[in-house]
Amino acid sequence: MVTRDHLRQQYLEFFGQRGHAVVPSVSLVPENDPTTLFTGSGMQPMLPYLLGQPHPAGSRIVNSQRCFRAQDIDEVGDNRHTTFFEMLGNWSLSDYFKREQLSWLMELLADELGLKPDRLYVTVFAGNRRLGVPRDDESVQIWQEQFSRRGIEAPTVEDAEQTGLGQGRIFYYDQTKNWWSRAGGPDLMPVGEPGGPDSEVFFDFGEERGFHQRSSFADQPCHPNCDCGRFLEIGNSVFMEYRKQADGSIGELPQRNVDFGGGLERLAAVIDDDPDVFATDFFWPIITELENLSGQKYRAQPARHQPADHHSTEYHHTASFRVMADHVRAAVMLAGDGVFPGSKEQSYFSRRLVRRAIRHARMIGVKGDMFDRLVPVIVSMYSSLRPDLEDRSDQIVAELSEEEAKFRQALDKGLRLIDRLDRLDASTAFKLFESHGFPVELTQEIAQERGQQIDIDEFQVLRQAHADASRTASAGKFKGGLADQNSTTVKYHTATHLLHAALRDVLGDHVRQHGSNITDRRLRFDFSHPQPLTEQQLRRVEQQLNDWIEANLAVTRQEQPYRQAIDEGALAFFGDAYPPTVSVYTIGAGWTDSRTDRPWVSKELCGGPHVETTGRIGRLAITKEQSAGAGIRRLYMELT
Ligand code: SER
Repeated sequence: MVTRDHLRQQYLEFFGQRGHAVVPSVSLVPENDPTTLFTGSGMQPMLPYLLGQPHPAGSRIVNSQRCFRAQDIDEVGDNRHTTFFEMLGNWSLSDYFKREQLSWLMELLADELGLKPDRLYVTVFAGNRRLGVPRDDESVQIWQEQFSRRGIEAPTVEDAEQTGLGQGRIFYYDQTKNWWSRAGGPDLMPVGEPGGPDSEVFFDFGEERGFHQRSSFADQPCHPNCDCGRFLEIGNSVFMEYRKQADGSIGELPQRNVDFGGGLERLAAVIDDDPDVFATDFFWPIITELENLSGQKYRAQPARHQPADHHSTEYHHTASFRVMADHVRAAVMLAGDGVFPGSKEQSYFSRRLVRRAIRHARMIGVKGDMFDRLVPVIVSMYSSLRPDLEDRSDQIVAELSEEEAKFRQALDKGLRLIDRLDRLDASTAFKLFESHGFPVELTQEIAQERGQQIDIDEFQVLRQAHADASRTASAGKFKGGLADQNSTTVKYHTATHLLHAALRDVLGDHVRQHGSNITDRRLRFDFSHPQPLTEQQLRRVEQQLNDWIEANLAVTRQEQPYRQAIDEGALAFFGDAYPPTVSVYTIGAGWTDSRTDRPWVSKELCGGPHVETTGRIGRLAITKEQSAGAGIRRLYMELT
């Protein structure tokens, strides 16, 4: 088994020897970036330097950045998804470009780390005429030279999704696969956002292991980006030389950068030639401790090289070990950056991690407390990387254990009730939530395991109806109390959709929501736009929005396939991952307006809740306009 510290060090030294300054990882909680809760890639803290500000350490940088991806929380359970991970990164800030990057990467993987080059497959950007970005023939040529030097012919394949691997070694994909920016593909990039075509390296665990035949993709051709598990992406070289222009086109950045990101844990898995990242040194000490705590074996079943059958008991057993190992490790790392379980922003995710880990602990038979046993294991695993954790180990144990004790009580009660119920639906989920504080995410998860479903929108409606009812009941007694706030926040929520639409009408379609925050007193809205709004623009936005409120437009909800919703023009928040079927809110369906060229006022993917008609919102005023980072503006609105 390759060891954690050794592998990380090998990477840093390799690029260190090639002129790169090693810089430390920044916190999991970004300091100057209001657009995101967590650091989710090594590139995030590098943004100003990729845009042209000189980096104090020079033009070649390397590091291992701790990352947390909250959106992956529900994916954890298979052999490769984790919420916390370390991303190896090297950057050229207007220094070297494709030739050095790809040759060095091959040298690192094949010669330094000893991966067999015939197990490596690469992808490149196919080019796009509309975007004015050519096919990446230069990368193809460099890769072909690199493979050929190692005795491998490297033919290209254009349409692998249709034709499969064939004899190919280098695969072209379009901008949905081989383009990287923080927002995703080129069409999703807000104005000012940098990005570019990329080239990914995949490791082949071998056709003979039968991943593809046993997967749900068996009737389609297998290729590097197939999700069957045969191929694992280990690194991505982004050639960051473009940025989104104000007119929506793709233009050149003043400088050409390289942004490479590689998964440290995944790299360990391929070096061990074991597709399970949880069997690497980055998790094994935790898994071993979990085996001790539960009296069960992680690999009691011959599941080692088999893809997951999500309905088998073996899968659930294995998945529980993985969820716990991932979540406890992530909670400790968040605690290391000052995030402890709570109900707001980052701390809410820490709470979710801890609670979910505890529920899975029960499923594999862990009886007593576990954080006091697991935290020290993790702290010592990371002692050379984060020596500071050792000093705070007691505090971390204390805080996580307190959450553990609180939740265990609620859980015991809730689970006993759930066991007695034959059917779980929105109304039972609401009762459990309302009377016992039992989290709806957990009820949802249990329902899923039973093959039942909870309509989350219906749950929200019940929750809202309950809040409204208690408000009516207590109106005289607690003016401006909690229930009252609830209904105010719903008004602000609908107003957010109107504001988004009004900004796009007044400023242009480059405006995209970056984030929003609602309290009972105001709404805050961040969006992409290159310069401050003029007095006149502010007045027009405010007027437009209040006109829509006055028109008392209907707010309607429907469920649609994600693709269809997007094709119809519904707006989606780019930072989120969406399920195949989504809930869409339309405001003013059928309404036509001289200032709006669409048959509705607003259409957005959203879980709700919302007011039924816009007239219920009442008049709104913009109270402040300011910057919220490069290319991002922030508006505050209040009910008058
Ligand atoms: N920013 C790219 C990624 O996250 C490469 O570092 O994949």
